[in-house]
Amino acid sequence: MSCRIDYQAPADLLEGRVILVTGAGDGIGRVAALEFARHGATVILLGRTLAKLEKVYDEIEAAGCPQPAIVPLNFEGATLKDYHDLAEMLDKEFGRLDGLLHNASLLGRITPFEQYNPELWEQVMQVNFNGPVWMTQALLPLLQVSKDASVVFTSSSVGRKGRAYWGAYSVSKFATEGFMEVLADEVEHLGTLRVNSLNPGATRTTMRANAYPGEDPGTLPTPETIMPTYLWLMGPDSQGHNGERFDAQPPKSA
Ligand SMILES: NC(=O)c1ccc[n+]([C@@H]2O[C@H](COP(=O)([O-])OP(=O)(O)OC[C@H]3O[C@@H](n4cnc5c(N)ncnc54)[C@H](OP(=O)(O)O)[C@@H]3O)[C@@H](O)[C@H]2O)c1
Repeated sequence: MSCRIDYQAPADLLEGRVILVTGAGDGIGRVAALEFARHGATVILLGRTLAKLEKVYDEIEAAGCPQPAIVPLNFEGATLKDYHDLAEMLDKEFGRLDGLLHNASLLGRITPFEQYNPELWEQVMQVNFNGPVWMTQALLPLLQVSKDASVVFTSSSVGRKGRAYWGAYSVSKFATEGFMEVLADEVEHLGTLRVNSLNPGATRTTMRANAYPGEDPGTLPTPETIMPTYLWLMGPDSQGHNGERFDAQPPKSA
């Protein structure tokens, strides 16, 4: 596992690239979308709350970055058709996809497994794992058109070592890590598509506040401070890295 916290991205790092970010309306996904756009990418903002996506869209436009696109999609009810419609739209508009940041996730509940609600378990697995898997399948042809494409799956420390009470969230992240390795191995021969996972580490967001209600958010790094590894993974400097697990912060945080 490694971390690129000291990476300094050139201003034009992502120029000409088309990058899709899931969960782009809030938290880490919002900041990643803004940072990718600031470094020249055309960003596809995907998420479930249109008003939040529109706000990010406006911020990107106001900053004079390449015009983004909005895709309202809720992983909870999304079907294979939705993923294929998305692929068709991207094909028509751009003809390829150069980056895919799987970031959207649901925490579910932190509770003893004995009390875990099966419907909630399904919901968390759907949003955090199954939905992103089938979306990836639909987008693979477009990723293969790109001469240099990067898929990043967002993990968590509880997706690398199990922790009591973290239930479906933890299991969904283990599944994500496993899928990342399977897919990375399948595309290795292409040489133009890399697939890796990234653990942001404890970061000041709504999800973190829900997971640790007693914690002072002021003690946590903001999403802005963890962006170097996100940028490095999306840009050409990470070429040749495939099937690896990265950390956005030096190890110690959750
Ligand atoms: N923050 C941390 O300390 C931490 C630590 C380890 C890993 N992570 C991981 O980092 C990623 C980002 O987390 P975060 O802390 O930024 O969380 P967050 O602030 O809760 O943001 C999550 C984003 O995902 C979207 N989302 C949730 N359910 C969705 C659904 N059904 N369909 C589409 N979009 C959906 C949310 O949409 P709405 O805006 O509509 O709610 C939101 O934009 C997640 O994968 C998380 O597991 C975070």
